[in-house]
Amino acid sequence: MTTLKSVRGTRDLLPPETALWNRIEATARSVFGGYNFGEIRTPIFEDTGLFARGVGEETDIVSKEMYTWSDGERFDEKKMIAEWLDRYRPDDPAQVQAGRVKVENFSPIISKLNQLGVQLQVSWGASVPGYPLPTSVPELVGFRPAVSAEAISVLMKARELAKSDPASDLRQHAVRLRLVVPSSAALNSWIERGEVHIEQFEGQFFASSQSLTLRPENTAGVVRAYIEHKLGETGQLQKLYYIGPQFRRERPQKGRYRQFSQIGAEVIGPPSAGSESPLRDAEVLEMLATLLDELGITGWTLEINSVGSSADRARYNEVLRQALIPVAPRMCADCQRRAVTNPLRVLDCKVPEDQPIIDSLPKIVDSLDEASKVHFAAVLAALDAAGVPYTRNHRLVRGLDYYTRTTFEFTHGGLGAQNALLGGGRYDGLSEAIGGPRAPGIGFAMGEDRLVLTIQAQEKLAPPQVAQVVDAFIAPLGDAKNEEALTRINAAALTLARELRRAGLSVELGDGSFRLKKSFEAADKVARRIVIVGEDELASGILTVKTFSTGVQTKIPRAELAHLLAEPV
Ligand code: HAM
Repeated sequence: MTTLKSVRGTRDLLPPETALWNRIEATARSVFGGYNFGEIRTPIFEDTGLFARGVGEETDIVSKEMYTWSDGERFDEKKMIAEWLDRYRPDDPAQVQAGRVKVENFSPIISKLNQLGVQLQVSWGASVPGYPLPTSVPELVGFRPAVSAEAISVLMKARELAKSDPASDLRQHAVRLRLVVPSSAALNSWIERGEVHIEQFEGQFFASSQSLTLRPENTAGVVRAYIEHKLGETGQLQKLYYIGPQFRRERPQKGRYRQFSQIGAEVIGPPSAGSESPLRDAEVLEMLATLLDELGITGWTLEINSVGSSADRARYNEVLRQALIPVAPRMCADCQRRAVTNPLRVLDCKVPEDQPIIDSLPKIVDSLDEASKVHFAAVLAALDAAGVPYTRNHRLVRGLDYYTRTTFEFTHGGLGAQNALLGGGRYDGLSEAIGGPRAPGIGFAMGEDRLVLTIQAQEKLAPPQVAQVVDAFIAPLGDAKNEEALTRINAAALTLARELRRAGLSVELGDGSFRLKKSFEAADKVARRIVIVGEDELASGILTVKTFSTGVQTKIPRAELAHLLAEPV
């Protein structure tokens, strides 16, 4: 049998690496707490429309990378057949076949008809009350969620089959065809064809359906929650952070996965709460510099830009469109397409030959209106004052449509091609775009996988001095041949481990069937000290403890054990 593996672009995280993930998350929570952020947890899947409207239908994320499915769109054929039969049962039910009553002479073709999707065969006499069909005419009836060419052709085929089957009673007759569809299903021109009688049948035969998507990012979900819970009505700024998985169908490579984790934060609120202030932008950026410092990540670069208001962006798009007309034919195929569909995205191009052309294009800063210029200048001035270093990058327009004014990324040289540690910016129109009140905001998301890669690379250069070890290894010393004694010793060791763990110590538990030498070897790998629990120790209440780093072995009363084990070595 082939062994199953984790899906392409997904990974298992194992100890000890998970310890690093936890350390990063704990540091982030602690720093966010210092800036008065609270945690928000939004669902991992949302209505597809949220991302289409929030992130933007034309973006790579929405147009190519989302995991989307239709949920609950199920046509309940069984229910429809049962109700239909109930309503139209002819006087002689023996003439109707639906798996409920027998029909003579049809049996050889019934399963073939079923395979074709014609669930029911109604013999003569089953015409609908109030619908004058000659009772002598046999019918084949199909049930479908909607009228379609496929449904019609299935019925036609069924009739051919019935008429060509030597065992079929239908051979001698003109067989009618009826297609039953829910009355909610829109009818199209097929009804005019006359070959097939189409019947709209009253009733709800669909489980409710919705297009759902695994979240490719968390900002849209946070803003949806802000609107849904009317957080704007508090009149306060909302400062929310999140940690969790996101999903994008990208080509996997180092630092780029299909399931990845983001640590992000958003500041959002009504303008009266100061949500538009450039101080908010600067504070978020200063917090990020602090967080990266706390994580011990050195050598990062903050790149910053302003994409202006949505009117500025529209103006710039037009300027770019014009500027691209003469040069686009010399650019890559993607750029030639973008030059027409979404000129702004030309700035994301990584093809080396296109770079000199792109560098010579008009810059967005020249399309900003006065208010956006003033806002951007104020952000930069606050960063200067706080001593947060940055580089201006005119091409940083970011791949999501909701951005306005400030956009930024922190990059790290050690990451290779996927060098963005984190990205973010302001999104002053996002709430309105998804049906909410005016609620300007700014936020960011860090790629946690990339933080881990960066820290691991740094630690390889300067590995941490102490490996992760526990305070004590409890070594029960039993007699493997004496079940009863072994059970007693193991139980005593578990009790002791429980006592010590409750006293706040970290403890690893051995096994009474281990020989003493094996216990020492196991303990030496994971613990600072070993505690031996044998029959003698149990009887006397005096335990033997050895400290590995000093080689000192002592005997100590059980009551003093926790105290000794807590002593640093
Ligand atoms: P983003 O730039 O799409 O922005 O993603 C933010 C960060 O997530 C990236 O800089 C990168 O570190 C990480 N990331 C993205 N895709 C992957 C991937 N496939 N594998 C590993 N890491 C990845 C956003 O998601 C916005 N929601 C950020 C934001 C918050 N803007 C305002 N508020």
